[in-house]
Amino acid sequence: MNLDRREEQMAQHLQNDMSETEVFWKGNSEKESTNHSGGHESEFADLEYLRGFGNHFTTEALKGALPEGQNSPLNCPYGLYAEQISGTAFTVPRKYNQKSWLYRIKPSVTHEPFCPRQPAHENLMSDFTDSSNSTVTPTQLRWKPEDIPEVKTDFIDGLFTICGAGSPFLRHGYAVHMYAANASMENCALANADGDFLIVPQQGRLWIKTESGKLQVSPGEVVVLPHGFRFSIALPDGPSRGYIVEVYSGHFQLPDLGPIGANGLAEPRDFLTPVAWFEDENISGYTIIHKFGGQLFQSKQDFSPFNVVAWQGNYAPYKYDLRKFCPFNTVLFDHADPCINTVLTVPSEKPGVAVVDLVVFPPRWLVAEHTFRPPYFHRNCMSEFMGLICGTYEGKADGFLPGGGSLHNCMSPHGVDTPTYEFYAMLEDVLLHPSLNYAPK
Ligand SMILES: [Fe+2]
Repeated sequence: MNLDRREEQMAQHLQNDMSETEVFWKGNSEKESTNHSGGHESEFADLEYLRGFGNHFTTEALKGALPEGQNSPLNCPYGLYAEQISGTAFTVPRKYNQKSWLYRIKPSVTHEPFCPRQPAHENLMSDFTDSSNSTVTPTQLRWKPEDIPEVKTDFIDGLFTICGAGSPFLRHGYAVHMYAANASMENCALANADGDFLIVPQQGRLWIKTESGKLQVSPGEVVVLPHGFRFSIALPDGPSRGYIVEVYSGHFQLPDLGPIGANGLAEPRDFLTPVAWFEDENISGYTIIHKFGGQLFQSKQDFSPFNVVAWQGNYAPYKYDLRKFCPFNTVLFDHADPCINTVLTVPSEKPGVAVVDLVVFPPRWLVAEHTFRPPYFHRNCMSEFMGLICGTYEGKADGFLPGGGSLHNCMSPHGVDTPTYEFYAMLEDVLLHPSLNYAPK
């Protein structure tokens, strides 16, 4: 292949990269859309948030709704009920302790008894210690994007499980789910008693009501809905699809930065928690769906669960925009390991070993000299599930589509596909020099 041909191929590749990158950024813009949800654009477009990761927040939708100087006074302001939600054992060391006090119009215990609810999708599961429930394979797997359902399907009915390990009964492990839906949850809320949900929407915004307030989450952002919180998801753009990781043990933390220093990767300031908001509505037959032990239960109540007028504490939902991630990598040769792109981690009891890491491969410069730039071939002791929000992934030339997924289990070999290898193996450094090829627009 002569130089002209290589330059032409490279130019085409880079053009594709840049156009896909644009798609990535555009995909994160908050666009006007038809309202399919029963909510209102104005309710969610200009929401206020509290900034910071793991902070102890105080927020009230009505001035003076938070008690002064104590958590559970004899009579709360406005006649509210004080209710604590604990995300960790009462007795864990203070630096790990997570809890919030919610001041609500009615206590959340005010509901009818739970009864079993059959999941709409046959593949919603959580216990991976029972081999009769699932299949074990070391084979490298890849999934096409899930089709958006043709029948009316909300977030709960559109949930299904891809893979996982451990069990919520043991309070250890995780599950990877996906959802494909086209309808908003109507007069119902979900609470997950099995663990935290981290949701990565790939298509369609999410309007999420929680007991702590409201969030708008667009593709390119992630949201954490902690263990136990009730939430309801509306789909303002109609068809929606995304990824979920559910963690049975612990909560997400920011990773230590080690020699990187005090700055970089995900900055605490970029995590956004909702401000207090409430609806004081009697709603006959409101359904609370409770996921416990991987099974669904439901109960009825006659009011909205989003009746928290004020709250204070460090246990609450939050979101993060992946565009704000500050990536690090080599500046001369070879590769950093993929953990350099860790956004959030759930540590295990073994130092340095995570139950789950959330890792992002954002648009970025690949600047190394005399180095094969895509991810190296490897095997490792972690199992890796990967999804694609938009654009292309440099390790897979084709066949890996936005909304799709791949799974490389523990010690299963993996690496780039043959066309990608052949393309990058023949590149000379000069053709990848940013000044030649990545001229800013
Ligand atoms: Fe890997």
